[in-house]
Amino acid sequence: MAFGKRSGSPVTTLPGSAPAPAATQKPAAAASAPKPAAQGASSAPSVKLKVPELKPEPVRKVNQHSDQYYTTKTTVFNALIDTIDLSQLAQLDTESAREEIRDIVVEIISIKNVVMSISEQEYLLDDICNDVLGYGPLEPLLARDDIADIMVNGADTTYIEVNGKIERTNIRFRDNAQLMNICQRIVSQVGRRVDESSPICDARLLDGSRVNVIAPPLAIDGPTLTIRKFKKDKLKLHDLVKFGSISEAGAEVLRIIGHSRCNVLISGGTGSGKTTLLNCLTAFIEPGERVITCEDSAELQLQQPHVVRLETRPPNIEGSGEITMRELVKNCLRMRPERIIVGEVRGPEAFDLLQAMNTGHDGSMGTLHANSPREALSRVESMITMGGFSLPAKTIREMIVGSIDIVVQASRLRDGSRRIMCITEVLGLEGDTIVLQDILKYEIDGEDDDGRIVGRHRGMGIGRPRFWERASYYNMERELADALDTLNSA
Ligand SMILES: Nc1ncnc2c1ncn2[C@@H]1O[C@H](COP(=O)(O)OP(=O)(O)OP(=O)(O)O)[C@@H](O)[C@H]1O
Ligand SMILES: [Mg+2]
Repeated sequence: MAFGKRSGSPVTTLPGSAPAPAATQKPAAAASAPKPAAQGASSAPSVKLKVPELKPEPVRKVNQHSDQYYTTKTTVFNALIDTIDLSQLAQLDTESAREEIRDIVVEIISIKNVVMSISEQEYLLDDICNDVLGYGPLEPLLARDDIADIMVNGADTTYIEVNGKIERTNIRFRDNAQLMNICQRIVSQVGRRVDESSPICDARLLDGSRVNVIAPPLAIDGPTLTIRKFKKDKLKLHDLVKFGSISEAGAEVLRIIGHSRCNVLISGGTGSGKTTLLNCLTAFIEPGERVITCEDSAELQLQQPHVVRLETRPPNIEGSGEITMRELVKNCLRMRPERIIVGEVRGPEAFDLLQAMNTGHDGSMGTLHANSPREALSRVESMITMGGFSLPAKTIREMIVGSIDIVVQASRLRDGSRRIMCITEVLGLEGDTIVLQDILKYEIDGEDDDGRIVGRHRGMGIGRPRFWERASYYNMERELADALDTLNSA
């Protein structure tokens, strides 16, 4: 399009930007305009860009400490480090080491005449033990089960996610060196190292929490630590119903999908609840089935007795010994699985998973990052293409429709709640296009007074989905018909 051709159209000028071309200005206004900025504005309606005001961020007080407390702690800590022999301390078991540290700290407090209340002193003792033996200021956050994620952006800034909302906390580290030390302690447990020469590292805490560290110089403002807390009591489908993530009838459809061995992909953004949902679906696997799970970091908690859990392995410090997800999934096929569950599909293993789904391992499942069911399937297609399989697009799509039955889309909404946005069936190929059919969708009606999103899960009027035959093979057509009736009349 050539500029200046649309002489009839209004010219929009941002305040302060260059004036509009002379041809579009009224000559009189241009001549009499006192300032160039006003000149542009006089010839066209100005667009006001609404820039959100930066309000000071509320800080969640995880502890009540003053700056004075931190100064005292540093003094006591430095005196302690000068006094104790760390190598001897390492020989002791945790309990004895704690005792030893407590005794010395109490002595330092009395020698230095530190004035503090009994409760503050108790906190200081624990705090310093945590610094020397544990994960320092992270400990109180790690002990809480209501926190989903911990995000440390350098020594002074720590955020947490609670109830779907991200909050800044008053947790802080002495300095970046202490934070780096804790990162080092975490990753050394899985035989890794993090420093300037290898500044990115994935690890796992002993309780199963997933950890990522990225250190300077890559992280410009200091070591950055992200922890997805491992939930001991994973949410169940009835919890999801209680939270409104899915309606009761929707949950019933999911139960039938899981039970009747449909092949399922769970799609969603980061932290949208994919793994949780996958875990819920696995609850409907029969106890007698042989299930093999493949994950980057074991998060799934299957209750069935006959489960083999596999985990990928990152390369070691020398860069060798890596075992990829693809190798695991390929190996799975030689292990006589009945169902294969892949924690997260993100590369060429997509091909092997589809093959497994296609060749008698019905009821296999996996999660993947995508924003809609259609995008999920095109991601599968591009993972296969980029994996170096020289297959025509049509063949890959035929594979996809021949193996995946259902895509469930999860989402974290703007109010922090997680919802199942749709349950979608893969119907087949029409020409080159994959045909999808929504069985259920979440429709947003608005917001309530507290800013929470209000909506409902509605059926799309489908009376007999494609997996009806499967459901009836497993004697579940009655339940399916009832659930669909309820959904379709919602
Ligand atoms: N429906 C839900 N309602 C409330 N909290 C939820 C729900 N689903 C998941 N969560 C919580 O949200 C957090 C993230 O969930 P989950 O690990 O399942 O997400 P994910 O999509 O797999 O994340 P990632 O992309 O990082 O793998 C967890 O703490 C989990 O307990
Ligand atoms: Mg996950």
